[in-house]
Amino acid sequence: MSEEHAVPESPQLEALHQRLAENSLGGHWQSRERPPKLKPWAWPWSAIYSCLMESGEVVKLGGIDDAAKRRTVQLVNPAITNLKATTRTIQMSIQLVKPGERAECHRHSAAALRFVVEGDGTGYTNVEGEQMLMEPGDLVLTPNWTWHDHFNPGKNNIVWLDVLDSHLSNYLDASFHENYGEGPAQPIIKQDGYCRQNLGVVRPRTANPDGHALPYTYKWKDTLDALEKTASAGPIDPHAGVLLEYAHPLSGGPTMPTIGCWVQLIPPGMTTMPQRHTSSTIYHVVQGKGVIKVGEKKAVRDDLNWGAKDCFFVPSWNWYQFKNNSTKEPAIMFSVTDRPVLESLGLFREERE
Ligand SMILES: [Fe+2]
Repeated sequence: MSEEHAVPESPQLEALHQRLAENSLGGHWQSRERPPKLKPWAWPWSAIYSCLMESGEVVKLGGIDDAAKRRTVQLVNPAITNLKATTRTIQMSIQLVKPGERAECHRHSAAALRFVVEGDGTGYTNVEGEQMLMEPGDLVLTPNWTWHDHFNPGKNNIVWLDVLDSHLSNYLDASFHENYGEGPAQPIIKQDGYCRQNLGVVRPRTANPDGHALPYTYKWKDTLDALEKTASAGPIDPHAGVLLEYAHPLSGGPTMPTIGCWVQLIPPGMTTMPQRHTSSTIYHVVQGKGVIKVGEKKAVRDDLNWGAKDCFFVPSWNWYQFKNNSTKEPAIMFSVTDRPVLESLGLFREERE
């Protein structure tokens, strides 16, 4: 892949390099550091969860001087520990809100979403004045610059995946943040189910000419129903099993401009065919266990094992394929991908065996 040819060293060349450096210039022929390649990686839920519960004892949340604004444990790719980032575009973290706790209201230019892992359904995220109750498996969108706060009025912890495009917005120097000025929580001004009522397939006439993401929640019971019915009716994709997208409710396109949310079912015993593409994906296992064979070279790949609630990452242009280890139970995975960014910039490329 390298296109560099060494220019013969000479005193004149050395003098030129010095003059270039003195003037904040550089020659294309000069060597330069390349960003590190991201690694395929798996984070077992047992490690995530025990650290998260420990953070619940050590780190206070919201409203008081010595508290964190958010209590999350972040998934860190070992190649970019300096950024504490999961990928170059998307961050996945796991958030804990204990009974009676509130994560205070704010908004930011990074788009965010929550996928609920644990909870009794009484906790909620308030997005732009709508209380979106959070049951396990629900997906709640808090798009770019929408006010959001979280509250747990129940008796049990709520745990969810927090996913943000913050590294992309930081890279583009387009990050803004604002705390809500009128208290820890915005008022609830919309009735429950407002977004689904107004953005469902039978809805008031609605215009969204920019195609931007909208506050929305996808309920797990609907997602699971769609997944299971598609799995029984087919077709089964040899590269992906059954793969469904959480479509933008109006455009039918990607979930958000910068993050696509997908849910996938690998039938019992299935091994998918190898593929690679320029988007990168973070997975969270909803149920089941198996292995992903992943690596840059098709012939030399690592096996990453995964089980229920584990998270793992497949970097850009790595070959990968899944195996469901169970011959009886389907495996189900929720995933987030930067594919909408690659596609909108004309940079998406894929190969399938
Ligand atoms: Fe936030």
